[in-house]
Amino acid sequence: MKGRKLACCFLFCLPPLRRFSTVGFSLRPSSYDIIGDIALIKTPDMGAPIRDIGEQVMASNRKIKVCAVKTAPMEGPFRQSQVHVIAGEDRLETTHKEWGVKTKVHLGKVFFSVRMSAERKRVCDLVQPKEKILVLFAGCGPQSCMLCKLTEVSRVVAVEKNPDAIACLKMSRDANKLGPDRLRIVQQDVREFKTLETFDRILIPRPKGEGSFLDCALPFAEPRGAWIHWYDFSEPGGESGGFVSSRKEVEDGCMDSGFQCRVERIVKASKTSIGKRKYRLCVDAFVWKEDESI
Ligand SMILES: C[S@@+](CC[C@H](N)C(=O)[O-])C[C@H]1O[C@@H](n2cnc3c(N)ncnc32)[C@H](O)[C@@H]1O
Repeated sequence: MKGRKLACCFLFCLPPLRRFSTVGFSLRPSSYDIIGDIALIKTPDMGAPIRDIGEQVMASNRKIKVCAVKTAPMEGPFRQSQVHVIAGEDRLETTHKEWGVKTKVHLGKVFFSVRMSAERKRVCDLVQPKEKILVLFAGCGPQSCMLCKLTEVSRVVAVEKNPDAIACLKMSRDANKLGPDRLRIVQQDVREFKTLETFDRILIPRPKGEGSFLDCALPFAEPRGAWIHWYDFSEPGGESGGFVSSRKEVEDGCMDSGFQCRVERIVKASKTSIGKRKYRLCVDAFVWKEDESI
C-alpha cells in the first residue's frame, strides 16, 4: 500500500507534459506490453520524466493510442492492477486481438496477460471436436472466446466473479459473434458454482494464493474421463523438467475428490518469468473415476 501511494505521488507530482527534448537518446523502457492499442509499461525507468517516456513509446508505433504505466503489482482476488495513463488518449479500455479473436479489456479493472497468448493457443490445439469445456476464473474471456472461435467445441461455460470482467466478457462474446448457447457466462464465485452438467475439459487459471480449487472443479469433471489444466506458480523442481510440488498438489487433490489422475505434462504457461525464477505453469492431467472409465 505504501509503495502504491509513493508511486501515485510520483506520477501526480510531475510537472505538466514537457516537449520531448532528448533527441537522439532513447528513453523507451525495455519492458512494456501492447494490449490492443495501449502500451502498458511495467517497469518505468525512474531516471527519465515518465511523460517523456510515454511520448517516445507512442512515437515508436503509430498503432499505439494510449501509453499507460502500472504503478503497483496486481492485487486482490480479482487480480486488478493500478494503472495510469501517461500519454495519448485518456482511457484504459481497449480491444485486444490475438489469433484473430477479440477480447475487450479494461486494464485497471480486469486481469489480462498478453504473455499467456501462446498458452491459450496451446490449450485450443488440444481440444477435440464436440467437447464441453468449463473455464473457471474466466476473466474478460480471452481463452473462452478462443476455444469457441478456434475449435469445434460443443459449448463453453465461463465462470467469473468480478462484475467488470463479466461486462468485458459479454462484450468479448458479442465482438466475436458468439451466442449464449455456445458461450454461457456465469457471474459467480467458483466456490458456489453449481450445474448438473459434466465437462470433458476444465481450465483452472486460479488466482495466486487462494487455494487449489480442485475440490470446486472436479465435481464437474466427466467421471468417465476428463482433462484438467491446473495453473500454478512454481520454481523448477528436481524432476527432469518437472515441477514436483505442483504435480503432487494435483495428484493429492484428485485423490481427495475420488478421482484417478495421470499427469500428462507440466509446461511453462507464460512467455516470461514472474519474479525471480518463478514461473506460471500448467499441469495437464487426465482424470477419471475408477469404476466409470471407458
Ligand atoms: C489469474 S486471473 C485469470 C483470468 C483469465 N483466465 C485470463 O487468463 O485472462 C483470475 C481470475 O479469477 C477471478 N476470480 C478470483 N477469485 C474468484 C472466485 N472465487 N470465483 C470466480 N472468479 C474468481 C478474478 O476476478 C480473475 O479474473
